[in-house]
Amino acid sequence: MPADSVKERIAELRQQIDHHNYLYYIDDQIEIPDAEYDRLMRELQDLEQQYPQLISPESPTQRVGATPLTAFSEVQHQQPMLSLGNVFTEQELIDFDQRVRERLAPKKTTQSETSSQQEEQPDGLLEYVCEPKLDGVAVSLLYEGGKLIRGATRGDGSKGEDITQNVRTISTIPLQLHGEGYPERLEVRGELFISKATFESINEDALKQDQKTFVNPRNAASGSLRQLDPKITAKRNLEIYVYAAGWVEGGELADTHHERLKQLHQWGLRTNPEIKKVQGAAECQVYYEKIGAKRDDLPYEIDGVVYKLNSIELQEQVGFISRAPRWATAHKFPAQEELTPLLDVEFQVGRTGAVTPVARLEPVFVGGVTISNATLHNMDEIKRLDLHIGDHVIVRRAGDVIPKVVQVVTDRRPANATEITMPNLCPVCESEVLQDEEGIIFRCNAGLYCAAQRKESIKHFASRKALDIQGLGDKIVEQLCALGLLESIADLYQLRREQLIELDGFGEKSANKLIAAIEASKQTTLPKFIFGLGIREVGETTAKQLANQFGSLDEIQKADQDSLEQTPEIGPIVAAHISHFFHDSHNRAVIEALLAAGIVWPKIEVSPVTEGVFSGLVFVVTGKLEQMSREDAKHKIESLDGKVSSSVSAKTDYLLAGEKAGSKLAKAQTLGVKIIDEQQFIELADSL
Ligand code: IVH
Repeated sequence: MPADSVKERIAELRQQIDHHNYLYYIDDQIEIPDAEYDRLMRELQDLEQQYPQLISPESPTQRVGATPLTAFSEVQHQQPMLSLGNVFTEQELIDFDQRVRERLAPKKTTQSETSSQQEEQPDGLLEYVCEPKLDGVAVSLLYEGGKLIRGATRGDGSKGEDITQNVRTISTIPLQLHGEGYPERLEVRGELFISKATFESINEDALKQDQKTFVNPRNAASGSLRQLDPKITAKRNLEIYVYAAGWVEGGELADTHHERLKQLHQWGLRTNPEIKKVQGAAECQVYYEKIGAKRDDLPYEIDGVVYKLNSIELQEQVGFISRAPRWATAHKFPAQEELTPLLDVEFQVGRTGAVTPVARLEPVFVGGVTISNATLHNMDEIKRLDLHIGDHVIVRRAGDVIPKVVQVVTDRRPANATEITMPNLCPVCESEVLQDEEGIIFRCNAGLYCAAQRKESIKHFASRKALDIQGLGDKIVEQLCALGLLESIADLYQLRREQLIELDGFGEKSANKLIAAIEASKQTTLPKFIFGLGIREVGETTAKQLANQFGSLDEIQKADQDSLEQTPEIGPIVAAHISHFFHDSHNRAVIEALLAAGIVWPKIEVSPVTEGVFSGLVFVVTGKLEQMSREDAKHKIESLDGKVSSSVSAKTDYLLAGEKAGSKLAKAQTLGVKIIDEQQFIELADSL
């Protein structure tokens, strides 16, 4: 290729790649498949490798490449990077709006003129822009002639650190501004963050490699940014939403904040799609509540919302107080992390005998509720956290997830803090506690002799996905066990009305209702029955596989280790658990008693093994579907020989995403899993 055509082709490729980046990151659209995009990128890389003199720093191939730094250098901000005042309640928001209005009212000097001051105050509502307050790291980006020339942290507001090399690796930050009309020098500010899904996968990787995990997505973002080697930053999948213009020279910006954000967006800078213009404090409050309700479904963490006066002219009139604008404020959500002392660690025995530590905490208000317990998972977790009784710990409760101890504040460890050790004997039945091969899980081996395991196995048997005994909640099972009325799951079918009436809060009506529910549960299905037995590592899906493979309970009970292993997804360990379960004479007796009590299920037609159209494909189903329920979709996939998994991973082939798909969708996007909607799913099922 002649030199001129190479130059032209390179320019063309860069322009096309930038165009597709803009569509993808800014407009949420795609015009070409990933493979085609990769081909464009590869062609550009090849040409640049052959003609290194044609490489320019704005080329999309030049995001990573620089060598690691030894330290970050200092950057002086031309215009200080401010912080924000806070409000926590609706009244404080109303007061904030009132203060802004007062500042805008013409100044009067004497007391007697107060009434006319009132009259001259603007009585129309003020226009605000409402934005989610992202919980990440503030950054300043400087563009000269449209080219990204510097990225800096906020630092103390006047001086930050030069992180240009690292911000260049972030795909949502353009190296070259898009379109035209941007000022010659333009500084923009925004928040760098890590999505919830990426945060989880970074931590999963860290755990696998025995490295320290990050406490929350904000720490992960800041840790990933403060890397001297940009190659590490590049791997962390940081993202940006810009929220303001800073220093501007050689050009004009629009005269409202909302219009300015639109301009930034047009120039290829990513702005948050949730941003909204409203009138007055009342509409600000409505926005706060709406975003609060949506918070758990957003793919990133936010810790509140920000209100900003829309008119730049009015902003200037209202001015600043020390380091924060008077014309903007943050309306914070209740904290999701708090500090509290660890009072004790108790050990709970689960259905399969696993003995797990649970933290008893000094009650603390976090994530909108008071918590006094938090899971600690296993002894490894205790070791990893270096947890001692008496420690001050950071507990976190984000969304509706179970509260978690995420960090110990070692500096505050009292002198009398004590180590945590696994008891040698089961805290419930005092049988010996044994360690599994990997040394992570400790187990009470007493099986149904252990009252804790018995109780948990009954709760499991009665649960919705098993025999579905409606109205038999945990509290009732606990009472029945305490009264000695339930020695095994089979005893459920021997319960009498007179016994139930004796229970706390029970009357004739509720007793009759429960008896009827127990009776109704006798009509079940084979997979539900197998699942309900609580065999170790036999979940709903494995139970279904077993039922389909063998067709009857008798055949499953008779199956040897080898034939069990022929079942899809059953490996030697699960097969051994199943075989062991059915060889146990106590278990056999319980099953006989259950059948004698009249439990029945429809016969299963064992379908001849065929290669279904979804053979070998793994699906995850999420969100609300229109034409079918999620259960229907799962049955359809399984009937075509595909697999349904409950969580998205690199092994997922398709994510079937309905409306309001949340974190699974975000994770699939991060992992590059193919995402299909309901219509595409139906077509796929028909076409393959
Ligand atoms: S505006 C002039 N908007 O919150 C006001 N800040 O507490 C400057 N933040 O350091 C900030 N989302 O890192 C603004 N939509 C948003 C924001 C936001 C997150 C962070 C930012 C700032 C801190 C102030």
